[in-house]
Amino acid sequence: MLQTCVRASKNYPIIISDDLSAFSDLLKYLKGDKVAIVTDDIVGDLYGAALDGFLNEKSVYKFVIRHGEQSKNAENYIKILNELAKYGFTRSDSVIALGGGVVGDLAAFIASTYMRGINLVQVPTTILSAVDSSVGGKTAINLDEGKNLCGTFYQPNAVYIDINFLSTLPEREIFCGYGEIIKYAFLSKNITEADLTGEISEDLVYKCLKIKADIVEADEKEGGARKLLNLGHTVGHAIERLSDFSLSHGECVVKGLFAVFGAAKKYYGFSNEIYDSALKIISARGHDLSNPFTVDEIMEQIRCDKKSGSDFVDAVLIDSDLSAKVERISFEKFRELLE
Ligand code: GLY
Repeated sequence: MLQTCVRASKNYPIIISDDLSAFSDLLKYLKGDKVAIVTDDIVGDLYGAALDGFLNEKSVYKFVIRHGEQSKNAENYIKILNELAKYGFTRSDSVIALGGGVVGDLAAFIASTYMRGINLVQVPTTILSAVDSSVGGKTAINLDEGKNLCGTFYQPNAVYIDINFLSTLPEREIFCGYGEIIKYAFLSKNITEADLTGEISEDLVYKCLKIKADIVEADEKEGGARKLLNLGHTVGHAIERLSDFSLSHGECVVKGLFAVFGAAKKYYGFSNEIYDSALKIISARGHDLSNPFTVDEIMEQIRCDKKSGSDFVDAVLIDSDLSAKVERISFEKFRELLE
């Protein structure tokens, strides 16, 4: 078992294990009598029972959404809030997010706003949510105009990761998770080529989350350093939305990474040698780097992105030392760079 913690507006542990018994102290983080498990129709069937064993002192209520990004919407948000109220959930009760990024973002937004905030434990079951979205306190639902446009910063009380959930995922889901891991390779030299090409492990999840925890501790509300975690995401979110979410988040992050890498080459004018080294990292897992949409379509989405200003974007580029760097660039210039 590996354990680390995040020291932000709330201090909380992250427990990474290959043995479910590491969840035995879960109750410590679940105050009150009632627990709401928010999950999806795939994960709930697979892992719901595994968690139940640790919760027999509690009244457990399950809220099952349909899997997929389209479920991260205002309708599910309001519906679950109303049900919590109907079942008499109080401020001291708790929410467990059991699932991937969609469940995690939605459940966390519910926990952060129900009665102005109740306890939240994240139990991520995908690589993507384990190495990224379950930690750091971003909560969200999508609006008609864009992804994650409504949300809060709200840290969980604990994060429990069972590595067995992650190593038994379908191939495409593993591929998707590696999109975020590739991103970390430009945020820290601790992520090696062997990490990018090998199997998911406790050690790799720990390394990624240590990078993320350090950044979140330095800048919880994304005023500066945390923007680096958006590497590949500005263009990636645009592609994801244009594909009507038929392309997964991780697949789009890698496409976004490749696009900003091309932009960075023009912006900094780095050598072919640097280009080759960065490309080796981006393509380490064999992701499809092509982008099926036009620059105009992408720019239209970027203008609605919450990370954009009225006429600029804080673009996260890849510098000549293969590390991520934020540059404030006008829409006009960014458009040229993406061409
Ligand atoms: N996924 C980016 C962040 O948590 O800031």
